[in-house]
Amino acid sequence: MLVKNKHYITIWIDKNNPKVVRTIDQTLLPHQFKIVSLKSSDEIIKAIRTMIVRGAPLIGVSAAYAIYLAALEAQKKCRTIYQFDRYIFKKSEEIKNTRPTAVNISFAVNESLKVLMKENTIEDKIAAALNCASLLSVQEILNCKKIGEYGLNIIGKISKSKKGKTVNILTHCNAGWLACIDYGTATAPIYFAHKKGIKLHVYVEETRPRNQGASLTAWEFLQNKIPHSIITDNAGGYVMQKGMVDMVIVGSDRTTLSGDVCNKIGTYKTALASKDNNIPFYVALPSSSIDKKIKNGLTEIPIEERNLDEVKYISGKSGKRIEKILITPLKSKAKNYGFDITPARLVTALITERGVVKPIKSEISKI
Ligand code: MRU
Repeated sequence: MLVKNKHYITIWIDKNNPKVVRTIDQTLLPHQFKIVSLKSSDEIIKAIRTMIVRGAPLIGVSAAYAIYLAALEAQKKCRTIYQFDRYIFKKSEEIKNTRPTAVNISFAVNESLKVLMKENTIEDKIAAALNCASLLSVQEILNCKKIGEYGLNIIGKISKSKKGKTVNILTHCNAGWLACIDYGTATAPIYFAHKKGIKLHVYVEETRPRNQGASLTAWEFLQNKIPHSIITDNAGGYVMQKGMVDMVIVGSDRTTLSGDVCNKIGTYKTALASKDNNIPFYVALPSSSIDKKIKNGLTEIPIEERNLDEVKYISGKSGKRIEKILITPLKSKAKNYGFDITPARLVTALITERGVVKPIKSEISKI
């Protein structure tokens, strides 16, 4: 999507040096747009942990690039294919342990391992790892495009039923192009509808504690001229009760076969408010975010608990400086759950790259 009218995706190989991965540092947005270089598997691991790269599809693709950089490292460090493979397996575990909730990391690492282990020479393994990461990246972009097309139909129908009046959409967190390489999952239908000339406006929930909605989704929308208003997380129920929302679209970090949706903390409360107000609640996700092994989202999906400082401190721009300030009593304890589970019964439908399906096993298993 566009940044200052120039097209970007969120991860790519440096065109002057194929051993370097380039990405946008998301911790600095919306105040600073900075492209950073990641030169080793450890640097990618750190970028995933510190959320320089974030969002389920992007951390999946980053994980695949980490395997590629690990393969380059193994070429220098190891004398035999056996040692090379051992190095890759060790790194794979480290990469999988960076963030536990999104299924995309283990999906991407397993895909990389599959292609890598089929090759017999170190050179071919490196080439296969790079090829796999690039393909996964392209695949995520295509997935988002398809999701955009399917979602556009849904927004189009609402617009028609409102006789062309503004369609009001509410979203939570950032399931935008920053999180998904390009277009986004929850945002692709919005971008496509806007391009088609459908009048729309998006309520962007700020998404405490890291404020991905207020900092990232709002920044994306501003760059791409999407009418939007940032609201506090607590205001979501109010705008729904007042009839100011026609539909909700969110992303997902992991969805089970039975249609339970794991997404950024706060999604569950948004879904409850939607249900109470008869507002359709859509989840846009690629098939790489579906975990077909898990049956019960509530008991089986590991929920990331992050550093308490994310709750106790807030950072923002003061004059020209980015400052971090304490907003709680210093000695108060805090809890920082990163994700929650929205049970399938609260979900209207899943918008995937293979079509719009009900959140039930018989439909999800076909995806
Ligand atoms: O913790 P984050 O910022 O990596 O959160 C993941 C997400 O971006 C969201 O939960 C999103 O809604 C789904 S991923 C497109």
